[in-house]
Amino acid sequence: MTTAPDLTKDEQGEPSSTGGGEVSGAEIVLRDVVKQYPGQKTPAVQSLSLTIPAGEIVMFVGPSGCGKTTSLKMINRLIEPTSGTILIDGQDVKQQSQTELRRRVGYVIQGGSLFPHMTVTKNIAIVPKLLGWDADRISTRVDELLDLVGLDPERYRDRYPRELSGGQQQRVGVARGLAADPPVILMDEPFGAVDPITRQRLQDELLSIQRELRKTIVCVTHDIDEAIKLGDRILILQEGAQVAQYDTPEVVLSAPANDFVADFVGAGSSLKALSLARVNEVELRQEVTATIGESTAEVRKRVEDAGSRSVVVLDGRGRPRGWPWLRQLKGETIVEPTEDLVNLDQRATLNDALDTMLSSSHGGAVVTGDRDQYLGVVDFDAVTAYIRNLEAEHE
Ligand SMILES: Nc1ncnc2c1ncn2[C@@H]1O[C@H](COP(=O)(O)OP(=O)(O)O)[C@@H](O)[C@H]1O
Ligand SMILES: [Mg+2]
Repeated sequence: MTTAPDLTKDEQGEPSSTGGGEVSGAEIVLRDVVKQYPGQKTPAVQSLSLTIPAGEIVMFVGPSGCGKTTSLKMINRLIEPTSGTILIDGQDVKQQSQTELRRRVGYVIQGGSLFPHMTVTKNIAIVPKLLGWDADRISTRVDELLDLVGLDPERYRDRYPRELSGGQQQRVGVARGLAADPPVILMDEPFGAVDPITRQRLQDELLSIQRELRKTIVCVTHDIDEAIKLGDRILILQEGAQVAQYDTPEVVLSAPANDFVADFVGAGSSLKALSLARVNEVELRQEVTATIGESTAEVRKRVEDAGSRSVVVLDGRGRPRGWPWLRQLKGETIVEPTEDLVNLDQRATLNDALDTMLSSSHGGAVVTGDRDQYLGVVDFDAVTAYIRNLEAEHE
């Protein structure tokens, strides 16, 4: 099965992380924006001019201290520019009240920065509360957001941050940024504090959420691989927030504007092309599936008839929960597998896919779509075939 061919860049001529729902984001324009901190010899941001298209993810990358965070925080006036103009959807942010800005711009930072003494619900509800939403509207919204970021509302809404893993806290942080449904989301190194596997999942989830919501997302990172993976466009900054290059990941990789960009992107940029290819561009294999609660005997027969030896177990909502071998199926009915299944989101890169496959006894990985729905299985053969095709095209 080839999934969603209509979403590939080539066929639609537009960035791949967009292409799902209607654009709900707003355009952001920076014009000659300067930030000079008191006592600083040269400005942190010398003169930044930039248009961020509505509905896109733009990644700000560059070495530490080059002015990424300062540039980001000026967009919602957490830092006041020294001079210059910033427009969101054509409106000057200087003319907007703090309340108005909170409604229009969500903000997500590393670790989620949750208030430790507040429950998950209270943390997510901060902005809606400030905006005067009533209790019913808030609780409906919180549950909707928890669902969106992959946390079961029943289980998590009343927990405290300390009862959550780092990845779960970060998910709550994302939910909080989205709470008032702002057209613009600013993120500062959002996935810097979690382990690599969790980071990969959070990135995939962000892409999946973005396909649905199509906000304008501005995200700071110092990790070029993260920028390539998430960005529709990448802004590469040099000291003083000088623009070294602002373009799509493809162009940045294949035609770096200068030596600074070439160095920053790194020598292995042909290998990095694997970070540009997504799992949904690869032919998926259809494994036999079973639903929790089904008769084991029937499932066993189905698997054997298909000439297979393993089965993907789904929960009642079509989400894969495990991928046991036939010999591991015990009891009368299929039960929830105990082993944690590492799924691959369809937006994951082939680099991610290879990592996940290497740690699986199946030599493959289960692929999920929006809201964790089962799509199929990707295996080494499929990835190898895809790479060979790419190489043939390039020759
Ligand atoms: N509040 C501040 N006061 C003075 N200098 C600052 C302040 N915040 C940042 N800077 C300086 O401004 C420059 C850019 O910082 P920042 O925007 O945080 O960079 P980045 O996010 O790219 O690491 C750095 O030289 C930093 O030391
Ligand atoms: Mg920073």
